[in-house]
Amino acid sequence: MTKITKAVFPVAGLGTRFLPATKAIPKEMLPIIDRPLIEYAVEEAVMAGITEIIFITSHTKRAIEDHFDQNFELEAKLIKSGKHEYLEKINRKIFENVKFTYVRQKSQKGLGDAILQAKHLIQDEAFAVLLADDLILNDPSCTAQLMSVYAQKNCSIVGLNIVPDKDAHKYGVISSDDVGHAEQTFAINDIVEKPTENAPSNLAVVGRYILSATIFNYLENLAPSVGGEVQLTDAIKLMLKDELVIGHLYKGLKFDCGSRHGYAQAITHLAKDILAN
Ligand code: G1P
Repeated sequence: MTKITKAVFPVAGLGTRFLPATKAIPKEMLPIIDRPLIEYAVEEAVMAGITEIIFITSHTKRAIEDHFDQNFELEAKLIKSGKHEYLEKINRKIFENVKFTYVRQKSQKGLGDAILQAKHLIQDEAFAVLLADDLILNDPSCTAQLMSVYAQKNCSIVGLNIVPDKDAHKYGVISSDDVGHAEQTFAINDIVEKPTENAPSNLAVVGRYILSATIFNYLENLAPSVGGEVQLTDAIKLMLKDELVIGHLYKGLKFDCGSRHGYAQAITHLAKDILAN
């Protein structure tokens, strides 16, 4: 089994729910206090051993590229004014040997189409997918937990959490014969994107995946479905006919920063430490 070294970050979405804040800046660059949301997920990936970050981006997302690039002018000014403590903040050591790659998604056709754009960079290795909107706090991180399960099972792994019935329609939802067995890992036998009724369980997919490269076979020529978009969930559903896919109930605190509610909760949570000092 090869080590997972690449992570795909779909970041081409419009961020409509955060207008007007996202009119001129990408939603992934919205600050959680003093760090942009995207940096949390990139840090999570890098700390879990990822050495190549592949952003699936669009023309409105240049600020993300700038954020992970060097800013020589700013560095020079900080050095000149003796503000050395900020140098590590803008030029983090943990990102030093990480390769950042950007692929433009021509039109926003959905998560499945976004992942497909990375096909030529992945070849036949398993890879991680992180949806940065889901800010997940834990040590070991959610990605590290999924990687541990991957190391044991050698198949695609999907991060799961438990949601109330009323929220199932917002997520991909899985079914498994193992549900109710107090397990943390589940052999998935079905997966449905945003079920409007009769959700198969309360186990919802979070924005963390380890995917076998065979996922591209199922993504290619996949028809759009829910919301008129090409759904990753539909490709995983097809994959289930041929391969084992495991769902893993990770440990951690999740904030859905794609919604104003979750974003406010994340800031409130992280502000507590600052206000206490
Ligand atoms: C996407 C996936 C969905 C998953 C969710 C997790 O939906 O399509 O299956 O449950 O991410 O955040 P989105 O939030 O992009 O609508």
